Amino acid sequence: MGDLGRLKMKKTIFPLFESGQFPSFWMKEGLRKIKNIVKNQNRWRSECLNLIASENVLSPLAEKFLVSDFVGRYNEHETINGEFEEHYQGVKFSSEIEKICIKIFSRRFKTPYVDVRPISGAIANLATYTAILKPGDIFLSPGLTFGAHVSSTEYGIAGTCGLKSVSMPFDEAEMQLNVRETIKLIKKLKPKLIMLGRSMFLFPEPIKEIRRYTKAIIVYDAAHVFGLIYGGKFQDPFKEGADIITASTHKTFPGPQGGIILGSPRLDKKIWKRIQRAVFPGIVSNHHIFRLPSLAITALEMKKFGKKYAEKIVENAKTLAKELFKLGFKVLGKEKDFTQSHQIIVNVENFGGGKTVAENLERANIIVNKIALPKDHAREATRNPSGIRIGVQEMTRFGMGKREMIKIAHFFKRALVERENLSNLKKEIVAFRKKFQKVKFCF
Ligand SMILES: Cc1ncc(COP(=O)(O)O)c(C=O)c1O
Repeated sequence: MGDLGRLKMKKTIFPLFESGQFPSFWMKEGLRKIKNIVKNQNRWRSECLNLIASENVLSPLAEKFLVSDFVGRYNEHETINGEFEEHYQGVKFSSEIEKICIKIFSRRFKTPYVDVRPISGAIANLATYTAILKPGDIFLSPGLTFGAHVSSTEYGIAGTCGLKSVSMPFDEAEMQLNVRETIKLIKKLKPKLIMLGRSMFLFPEPIKEIRRYTKAIIVYDAAHVFGLIYGGKFQDPFKEGADIITASTHKTFPGPQGGIILGSPRLDKKIWKRIQRAVFPGIVSNHHIFRLPSLAITALEMKKFGKKYAEKIVENAKTLAKELFKLGFKVLGKEKDFTQSHQIIVNVENFGGGKTVAENLERANIIVNKIALPKDHAREATRNPSGIRIGVQEMTRFGMGKREMIKIAHFFKRALVERENLSNLKKEIVAFRKKFQKVKFCF
């Protein structure tokens, strides 16, 4: 705290302490503040064009079942030959709901190997790394400026585990892994593990092509595209040769925040056993069992509506990308029709860089995030990199279609090219968003 802050504290809080009024005053004031923060958040984000590619909203039914008695409970268990060996009493219903989740994903991915205990996608990756690698091991990862999530780099979980992640070569024009150069790297380094899947994820990964040249364990990080895969609108990682899928359950898959690990039906049982032991007792103690009813509901909703939802997401992303390009934006991936996922990547260097642009757009209630592009240095990722990433999955879930995507592209133009007054634009966006408040593709 700076001097000014200290002075303000002294003026406002210390006299209250001395007079003995502090606790009750703070209670009332604190409670009022907390309520207002939540009210403001709910109102604000319902008035925004939420285009963060890693977010989504729950269906009303999934939201209703997010808070229950499970919120405060534990169910630590090992899983031995598919059976739970529970360490606590009072868990009969939480085990039942967890087994239902496992069954639903098991059927969808035609595999007995499912673990829904990782509490996020990053934790799913951590469990996988610790099960398969040991400190000092080299593995291949997409590389930060080619779209890797920080968890598979030296700056994140991989680094914390003492692993050495080597970036795989990337083809900037294709916005995809450079297969030829990657195969050379695989032959040279003979890694035990190869991580495919990324945070900047426009096109399917060349799993088949890589599989042909290696016996390494291929982990497919589907954090972003899990909903598209579930809906059958992206690649099928197991069919193409991946051994393990890790994912978040709250991005294009619109469930509660959490993670999941799936093993291919061909996966060596011993490796799956190691993964499950890495999850518990290795990493996760309580696994936020309160989210599981909501996860199961979302999975059933996705079974019924997931195909249509995924198709609409990709159609909307393509429409928005094309319109932005038509309006003069440097949209990446042009050679391949811009995108096959929920994402659109735009080089916004000419507008001041990703950070500046994302901050300006927020003033007009358009929420996107900055992202490092292949031309950037990794150091730039958290500063002012060249790109922004746009995701259409949430606005699609609220019922937006092609017409609205075109309108959104024009909002970008008015904000960034025509430099309209952002608070006037914001008012228009708030009115536009009012018509899209009901979550679709759900019970
Ligand atoms: C490719 C990828 N993997 C893992 C994660 C981490 O997922 P979570 O936020 O669920 O921990 C992300 C987050 O956005 C991601 O993009």
